[in-house]
Amino acid sequence: EPKKLWGGRFTGATDPLMEKFNESLPCDRRMWAEDIRGSQAYARALAKAGVLTEDEAATIVSGLDTVAAEWETGVFKVVAGDEDIHTANERRLTELVGPVGGKLHTGRSRNDQVATDTRLWLYGALGQTRGYLADLIKAAVSRAEADADVLMPGFTHLQPAQVVRWSHWLLGHAAAWQRDDMRLRDLLPRVATLPLGSGALAGNPFGVDRRAIAADLGMVGGVCPNSMDAVSDRDYVCEALFFAALHLVHLSRWAEDLIIYSSGLFKFVQCSDAYATGSSLMPQKKNPDALELIRGKAGRLQGNLAGLLATMKGAPTTYNKDFQEAWLLMFDSVDTVNDCIRIAAGVLSTIAINPERMLAGLSADMLATDLAEYLVRKGVPFRDTHHLSGAAVKMAEERGCSLFDLTPADLRGIHPLFADDVAEVWDYSRSAEMRDTEGGASKRSVLQQAEKLKSYLAQE
Ligand code: ARG
Repeated sequence: EPKKLWGGRFTGATDPLMEKFNESLPCDRRMWAEDIRGSQAYARALAKAGVLTEDEAATIVSGLDTVAAEWETGVFKVVAGDEDIHTANERRLTELVGPVGGKLHTGRSRNDQVATDTRLWLYGALGQTRGYLADLIKAAVSRAEADADVLMPGFTHLQPAQVVRWSHWLLGHAAAWQRDDMRLRDLLPRVATLPLGSGALAGNPFGVDRRAIAADLGMVGGVCPNSMDAVSDRDYVCEALFFAALHLVHLSRWAEDLIIYSSGLFKFVQCSDAYATGSSLMPQKKNPDALELIRGKAGRLQGNLAGLLATMKGAPTTYNKDFQEAWLLMFDSVDTVNDCIRIAAGVLSTIAINPERMLAGLSADMLATDLAEYLVRKGVPFRDTHHLSGAAVKMAEERGCSLFDLTPADLRGIHPLFADDVAEVWDYSRSAEMRDTEGGASKRSVLQQAEKLKSYLAQE
């Protein structure tokens, strides 16, 4: 029976079920590299503080390199009693370098250690997320630029509303993705803030230079300001889970639009074979599974966020073992959001669009607003023009014809200011082009939106 790290005051054995219940190694072994980096930085800090000699620190640092190499090559042997990654690495270090390994944990607690490791891991992982997000936004921009002429019905309440461009719709989603990236950018320094040197809760009695450790570990946010808060705080995980949940809300709504647009009744788009699957029964089927999976995973990640907030809300100040539950959620949310972003980029860059079907989805009544605006430009108050255009819609409906079939003379029966040039209104492209204000549906405006995203990405 190996001796437990914390076993000094214990005489009784741990219930084997409790042993399993307590252990987190199957989950947290994933951050072995961060645990070793944190320990090496701490060993250097202990040497600087005069707690370790330079030789002792060097022995520990190189012993930890060996432990890292064992993980790297898959030969690290987990033994009974390795309850988490911290105990496993320290146990192995001591086997390799002897009793001097036992000096590493001087003034340190797993409480400041685990918070440091997970912050390091999350900082690295979310940096990768930003890269994937940039690729997704780039894919949206390049499709938007290539297909800027394609007109499409825009919907409110899922009812045909006004003429927009496919690119305008797409860059609308990219705008939400950009906000998500800004949220990440803002969050990263709060993740990369150093708890190490806080001990279990009260602080470090050996005068380690926390700022030097922060610099050593690339913690750009500096040091946690209060040792009790440092071991208590899991905001950085909550915020990452919120980022993932909200970003997946955005991806899910984008996916939902495309699922609708790809349905046999719309046929605006068709997913490439790479991101669709067939039916085991119906030979004709091609289902947008990638998009449905994104929509489904969005629900699960909201659950992760709600779960962690619930775990935290009643926890007394400083560390409680409840917090160990956070890591499964953290790994799951980060892995899932990374997968979803990459899948979304793949779907987006390979999806086929059908401009004829999009055009066929436009109807004359979607220009009713333009008809009202025609009279506005002749000086009629908008509130009146809205009713007058509505009367035209009603007239066409009663005659069983399209708005396009109403002659200028018909329209003059509704208002004398309708002239022959009203025919110009019956042009879908004009409708989009009229909306040339920044952010609108005109081609110029849409291309400007693409440019702005490109300069955002270039500066990040
Ligand atoms: N595996 C633990 C966790 O992830 C490490 C911290 C243990 N600290 C303690 N006081 N038992 O939360």
